[in-house]
Amino acid sequence: MTTPRVHWASRIGFILAVAGSAVGLANIWRFPYLVGKNGGAAFVAVYLLSLFVIGFPVFMAEILIGRTTQVSPSSAFRRLGKNTWWSGAGKLTIATGFLVSAFYSAIAGWILGYLFEALRGNLGCITNCADAVTYYTELIHNPWWGVGFHLLFLVICTGILYFGVRKGIERGTKIMMPMLFLVLGLLVIKGLTLPNASQALSFLFDPDWSELTPIAVLIAMGQAFFTLSLGQGTMVTYGSYLDEDENLIKSCFPIVIVDTLVSIFAAIAVFTIVFSAGMQPDSGPGLIFHTLPTVFSQMPGGYLLAILFFLLVALAAVTSEISAMEPTIAYLMDDWGWNRKPAVYVTGIGAFLVGIPCALSSSVLSAYTFKGLNILELFDVVASGFLIPIGGFLAIILVGWRWGTANALRYLKRGSSEFFKQYPVVETYFSFCFKYAAPTLIVVVFLNALGVFG
Ligand code: PHE
Repeated sequence: MTTPRVHWASRIGFILAVAGSAVGLANIWRFPYLVGKNGGAAFVAVYLLSLFVIGFPVFMAEILIGRTTQVSPSSAFRRLGKNTWWSGAGKLTIATGFLVSAFYSAIAGWILGYLFEALRGNLGCITNCADAVTYYTELIHNPWWGVGFHLLFLVICTGILYFGVRKGIERGTKIMMPMLFLVLGLLVIKGLTLPNASQALSFLFDPDWSELTPIAVLIAMGQAFFTLSLGQGTMVTYGSYLDEDENLIKSCFPIVIVDTLVSIFAAIAVFTIVFSAGMQPDSGPGLIFHTLPTVFSQMPGGYLLAILFFLLVALAAVTSEISAMEPTIAYLMDDWGWNRKPAVYVTGIGAFLVGIPCALSSSVLSAYTFKGLNILELFDVVASGFLIPIGGFLAIILVGWRWGTANALRYLKRGSSEFFKQYPVVETYFSFCFKYAAPTLIVVVFLNALGVFG
């Protein structure tokens, strides 16, 4: 017996849910530190180009796969690919999403932990960067702290997912996203009024191409995939909750713009603060844990600002985490015939267990490294450097070559035929990117990363 598929209650609900998935730690935590570590504006430029040529087309391709088939990624890939090999490809993307949900939760747990520190007023004592580093190091060296907040974070996400697509995901993101925009806006305004703001802006917007390395190009592409939640079943699944006549241009284009703006604004906020305090922009993943608490403690109203900031990063992380877990849940429901509740519990418990080594990677498991990467970093590199681009590559090959661009475009136009009539160049752009640009560039970047070009 099949129940009719649940659909989003409204377009804005879909936009906010997908934007909620896209906007997350990758925008607020990762993008600024990647920019800082990889040479600033040149990296931003390559990132924007990756979004245009690869990120956006793959994003549209995945949403389209979901909307057309109305099922979870494994069945969706099989239906369009017409054989079980493609079903395996769909399963790989679901497994990737699950893996991401495990390590993402470990990191989001730190954010939650910092939120508690902020609430307790402890961040107010951090008056310089050295203190901040010591404080951070003490926290992440505590195994109970890491695992405890990883668990708490997953309990929250599982709780939301329990209520389903409309009452859980859609309603939750409708409340959380506007709050995030507001606080980010306040932080950007604050940052721009600080001393040395222009130095931060030129670091971000004045490219020095000599700084750009081949590995940075791979990282920029990985970031474009990661921030749009691609290659891991999320967009296929969220697309499958869309009405088949939804205008995909109107509902998807704003999401990519919002996601990009949030990344840029987050980088402006973080770097104006970093430069105003005379700190280095390339401190890596600890950037928001070291620099922001230091500055908050010196600002009027810093206590509240710190709470607000970590609350909202945590909320952004929640809306992303639920979207990384949902493909597994949809898979258990669609392909195995499970009810939603057991599917949610099993996914939540699974993500907790798999995430434990990540949550312990800076404490009791810190000795376990591979090529200098701890367990958490290794999960991140394997997922965002390899599995996610592979998942995106499979989706784009499915759409561009197996299903075929002619079919894909016919379905893409459903609900937005007027727009395509008015701007035929958009059709050319999609068919070129689906078939040639996106797959070729993904392969080139891989070959480059493997050292084929020397
Ligand atoms: N897009 C999310 C972010 O920017 C990360 C994410 C990836 C979330 C995949 C869900 C699925 O943080």
